[in-house]
Amino acid sequence: MNKDVERILYNEQQLSVICDRVADQLNRDYKGHQVVLVGILKGSVVFLADLFRRLDFECCLDFMAASSYGSGTVSSGNVRITKDLSCNIRGKDVIIVEDILDTGNTLSYIRDHLGAFSPASVRICTLFDKPARRKKNISADYKGETIDDLFIVGYGLDYDEKYRNLPYIGILKPEIYTK
Ligand code: IMP
Ligand code: MG
Repeated sequence: MNKDVERILYNEQQLSVICDRVADQLNRDYKGHQVVLVGILKGSVVFLADLFRRLDFECCLDFMAASSYGSGTVSSGNVRITKDLSCNIRGKDVIIVEDILDTGNTLSYIRDHLGAFSPASVRICTLFDKPARRKKNISADYKGETIDDLFIVGYGLDYDEKYRNLPYIGILKPEIYTK
């Protein structure tokens, strides 16, 4: 285990079971559809890679990146798109893939942005949902797990751009945040 991690919340095997379950739901709902999976950089990449390989319907892959800026460390509602889509989603069924739905600021902005390109549908698939901190009226159509108001890292999720490469989801030791 990484020396900065206090405890593991989901190990590799548990994450794999979560991916199986979410992929089964998508495979049932999207069979025969023209799908574009849109991964939100960077946090979603590990989940997306595991999920994508479990999908058995035809689907394209694209990415977007957004940053949420404001005063201090608290994310504001001011979302800015830093990387836009590269493929055409008009008439397609879009699935946004995200690591974690927290305040909802990022995903509600991205969902509205994508809606302007006239897709057939836009749904949200998130690995984790943290409803306690929600600020926007948004919910996930597909979700791995609902978690308490905890800050988690690993499996794509970072703290200060670190720990994305941990193969599990962990909670950092309190002293790491006060450094
Ligand atoms: P929202 O706009 O507040 O919903 O922010 C969502 C983004 O905040 C996610 O895509 C993550 O990048 C980040 N985030 C929220 N909670 C956590 C966490 O517990 N660990 C790591 N990143 C998080
Ligand atoms: Mg993120």
